[in-house]
Amino acid sequence: MTYETILTETRGRVGWITLNRPNALNALNTTLMSEVVEAAEAFDVDPGIGAIVVTGSAKAFAAGADIKEMEAKTSVEMIVDDHFGAWSRFAAVRTPTIAAVAGYALGGGCELALMCDLVIAADSARFGQPEITLGVIPGMGGSQRLARAIGSYKTADLILTGRTMDAAEAERAGIVSRVLPADRLLDEVADIAEGIAAKPLPALYAATAALDTALETPLAEGLRFEKQAFAALFATEDQKEGMAAFREKREPRFRHR
Ligand code: CAA
Repeated sequence: MTYETILTETRGRVGWITLNRPNALNALNTTLMSEVVEAAEAFDVDPGIGAIVVTGSAKAFAAGADIKEMEAKTSVEMIVDDHFGAWSRFAAVRTPTIAAVAGYALGGGCELALMCDLVIAADSARFGQPEITLGVIPGMGGSQRLARAIGSYKTADLILTGRTMDAAEAERAGIVSRVLPADRLLDEVADIAEGIAAKPLPALYAATAALDTALETPLAEGLRFEKQAFAALFATEDQKEGMAAFREKREPRFRHR
């Protein structure tokens, strides 16, 4: 499949999506949104894929929604078109998603990273929600996902001032899983993604569903979901294989991977 604004590649069991609008610092326009969602959903329904990496360039993961595309829109158009609506389909992908972030992850770029299960940042990464400087607020989930991930006070600091934070601060705050030297980012993310993709799919899907549930429901409901999902995995061959391999002191040979 050839796309206009992204590059896709399958490496082993890992699907790679590279945002590719270099002249606009990977600003997220409507075409790019549709293409990322289409590519992610295609990887998601492929049982040969166990992890999806989303990345950008050394300078920018993505510098936000495309301001030039949005500038002249009316409020009614934004509502009726549900301008960012398709991103909810990206967030709903079951396959583990990894954002490999170097350079700017601003506005919608930061919000796209926040939709992923893991955020691996280069030491060059800068995260922020500068929408206030444009007279708006985050529109792809930033106010909600950030507040849940890093608390309302840190979120307010970002959203009300529009300032950016570097990778170290973002890791301390809790939206970055790991920080890596920029020149090792993609190689190390490839290793992390391959490691995840080698795990059994039923358990991976259960894990991402449990993580989503943790963010979306009260604790008691989340604990009930986890208990059911944990028990359901005992119906899989991969649970029997994983536990037998432990007992027999050998590597597991998972069937669904
Ligand atoms: N939308 C459209 N074009 C963008 C863009 C964006 N978000 N960010 C950068 N570009 C374009 C620039 O207009 C420029 O294009 P031209 O050469 O044609 O003028 C090109 O990318 C390179 O950008 P700069 O020359 O500005 O690069 P820089 O290194 O001087 O600055 C930057 C980098 C600080 C990231 C700066 O580009 C910037 O501030 N970008 C906008 C960041 C922003 O406000 N993001 C939030 C967008 S709104 C949003 O995301 C809403 C939401 O919640 C979904």
